[in-house]
Amino acid sequence: MREIGVGILGFGTVGAGVAAGLLKNRELMAERTGMDIVLRRIADLDITTDRGVEVDPSVLCTDAFSVISDPSVDIVVELIGGCGIAGKLVRAAIEAGKPVVTANKKLLAEQGCEIFKLAQEKGVDVFFGASVGGGIPVIRALRDGLAGNRIESVHGILNGTCNYILTRMEKEGLPFETVLKSAQEEGYAEAEPSLDVDGFDTLHKAAIIAALAYGVQPDVHTLSVEGIRGAVDGADIVYAGEFGYRIKLLAVIKNDGESVEIRVAPTMVPRDGMLASVSGVFNAALIKGDLSDKTLYYGRGAGRLPTASTVIGDILDVARNLSSGQPRAFVIPRTRMPLRIKAKGEEKSRFYVRLSIKDAPGSLAFASGIFGNHGVSISAALQKEPGSSCGGFATVVIITHEALRADVDAALEEISESPLSGGVPHCFGIAD
Ligand code: HSE
Repeated sequence: MREIGVGILGFGTVGAGVAAGLLKNRELMAERTGMDIVLRRIADLDITTDRGVEVDPSVLCTDAFSVISDPSVDIVVELIGGCGIAGKLVRAAIEAGKPVVTANKKLLAEQGCEIFKLAQEKGVDVFFGASVGGGIPVIRALRDGLAGNRIESVHGILNGTCNYILTRMEKEGLPFETVLKSAQEEGYAEAEPSLDVDGFDTLHKAAIIAALAYGVQPDVHTLSVEGIRGAVDGADIVYAGEFGYRIKLLAVIKNDGESVEIRVAPTMVPRDGMLASVSGVFNAALIKGDLSDKTLYYGRGAGRLPTASTVIGDILDVARNLSSGQPRAFVIPRTRMPLRIKAKGEEKSRFYVRLSIKDAPGSLAFASGIFGNHGVSISAALQKEPGSSCGGFATVVIITHEALRADVDAALEEISESPLSGGVPHCFGIAD
């Protein structure tokens, strides 16, 4: 039986999960693939901490480059993350003609273009299934099952930390900071949570999906991203519920034929829709293809074994390609016509707006007049009495008809600058 040697770079949570999975299911994988997938090397700066998996100590080392150059390693699995040393190692592996499996969303979102170009030149595979959706085969679905479709849209709940926080805020009526602190204590959120709660982790994933679906390689620093911190509070969650919606941190990737929209923002989704029922740490991606119509992918978006499951699936694909002698040199597809990426503010949808305005004659007419002046039509408005009037200011919630985000923002800026305004408005798109 042909042996395929695997070298893992990074012995953290996912690295240890991959090692455990490869050891546990070695025979099963051999039956399924006709190849013996052998864990040959693991590199990490810390090789003394107990990772909860028993590996032969001779497998462990601290020099990741020596793993790449080891002739017994056929596939390099990069699980360090980030654009620093991980980027150097991925490039070194490709240069050495070794296929790479990685879960590194930041690296691919920011430098994917160059990495896939290099992989194509060298004729080696770069597989990255675990970079989006952890244990959910979203990338595989886009790459394989839906490959014959024009992808019309992808709506994704792609960050378990944010979904966990929003779910608890809604169910328990707790403020963001309280839930974040408790999530950190329970190990559901990182001590430094900004990558998650400010939306960047989701944005990296959105950029990878857009690259796969549309062949675009956006500069992620120019894309529209809003997280949940400082944006969503308990009142919004309650009002969203009253209008029949739930708030989710959503990645939206859409193609209208001429341009591609890629953005991340707290968004209202219908309570009876598929995405609204995705709660806690779970992730989901709702993909609409021109042939398939809507398909939903749901599961654990993070975690040791779920993420390892996807990494190992990629290892087996690469092993099959090595065995057939035909690396697919899998690269991001390119569209025949370059698609423009929509600028911030160009997206169109209905919007939810929560305003605080002076509880005085003419205030509501003044605010609605400003929306009208900016071409934004109001579909519904709600002001409760008397409890919502606080310190002489009233809370008014407005749902607009479809409008351009830039027009809504311009109206909100004008309202905020007026002496009638009692605070910063909250505004979310509605994904109907
Ligand atoms: N930190 C991410 C999450 C998982 O909370 O979903 C890795 O992308």
